[in-house]
Amino acid sequence: MRPASSVIYLDWNATTPPHPEVLAAMQAAAEAAWANPASVHGPGRRARAFIEQAREAVARLTGFDARDVTLTSGGTEANNLALLHAFGDEADAAGVPAAGRLHGALVVSRIEHPSVTRAAEGLAGRGVHVAWVDPEPSGRVAPEAIAAAIDRAAAVAPVRLVSLQAVNHETGVVQPIAEAAAIVHVRGARLHVDAVQAVGRLPPDAWAGADLVSVAAHKIRGPKGIGALAVRPGIRLRPVLLGGAQERGLRPGTQDPVAAAGFAVAARRALGAPDRYAALAPLRDRLEAELTQVGRAAGASPVRNGEGARAPHVTNLSWPGWRGDELCAALDLEGVAVSSGAACSAGTAEPSPVLTAMLGPERAASAVRFSIGEDTTEADVVEAAFRVARVLSRLWSLPAGS
Ligand SMILES: Cc1ncc(COP(=O)(O)O)c(C=O)c1O
Repeated sequence: MRPASSVIYLDWNATTPPHPEVLAAMQAAAEAAWANPASVHGPGRRARAFIEQAREAVARLTGFDARDVTLTSGGTEANNLALLHAFGDEADAAGVPAAGRLHGALVVSRIEHPSVTRAAEGLAGRGVHVAWVDPEPSGRVAPEAIAAAIDRAAAVAPVRLVSLQAVNHETGVVQPIAEAAAIVHVRGARLHVDAVQAVGRLPPDAWAGADLVSVAAHKIRGPKGIGALAVRPGIRLRPVLLGGAQERGLRPGTQDPVAAAGFAVAARRALGAPDRYAALAPLRDRLEAELTQVGRAAGASPVRNGEGARAPHVTNLSWPGWRGDELCAALDLEGVAVSSGAACSAGTAEPSPVLTAMLGPERAASAVRFSIGEDTTEADVVEAAFRVARVLSRLWSLPAGS
């Protein structure tokens, strides 16, 4: 029996606990590779080896060539780099982006991570025509809706890029990437896939056909602060930051060999992770069933947000009439770590834009996301449901919304 005080971590979509092999590799690299990886001497070359090992491992994991992998500070920067690359005048010979107004059209779904939606808003402010695609109430973005948005946008400006995530961070709904890729390519545009929540959880067909793929190490049991953008050969990126020649000038700044050492190990481990994640589906279903049962017993059954194809480790539930953020805070006091939206939006009073776009603001305001991972056990799920029951019976004795 687990001590009542121990925390049950059911927020694997926010981040994953670094794997012990990752921590060991980082510890070893911290001692051996403190030199600047851009230095040409021996210590510099030893540090650089960790950078190249991470690049190789990410290339294998994503199915791209190592030459076409740019290491970034994480998923956010990879997404920004991907969106920026398609717009504006050609960068000058030094790779400096041309200033001023940008040209072309971008098609993007409304349920993307803020690192895509905010970047799209930024591009719109600089002259890019942005066409937003609404999801179905199930959380899926229909390929036909993407086709219609491209065709509408093309009447205004040439569509250069479509951005569609592989798996939604809040609901776990899997998007129809292969169908979207066919639609995008036949119309002469490129497809960027934010695969941050898919890589290391689903097999590579989850991003099949993508021209640009974003990855973050901390979602695959690697360290925070490092990620990558993999691109098809011939795609020319435009740097977001300006500076030295690191990452072929696309991502200037001294690289971190320690983070890279951890990323390499995490990416190698992630090759086998989809099988481990697939085995989690019965545990996720058990969690859903337990939560539905305790909700019913407390007088209010939760409703699920997200239908159809879903990643095997996520469930998003709304308790209508209650606030998701308050439930999360009450669960935190009981030692259950969950979230009511994307972790990066925590602390904002705004209901999730993803769930608002799918099902409206009321469902969004009452949502709680539970995401399990490789270390979650059946005992965790049973105990978490027990603690949820305790919270619900306490809250339910109060009038709703008080
Ligand atoms: C789908 C998705 N894209 C991008 C990101 C951003 O990644 P990072 O935290 O590495 O900046 C996240 C993080 O939650 C995410 O879930």
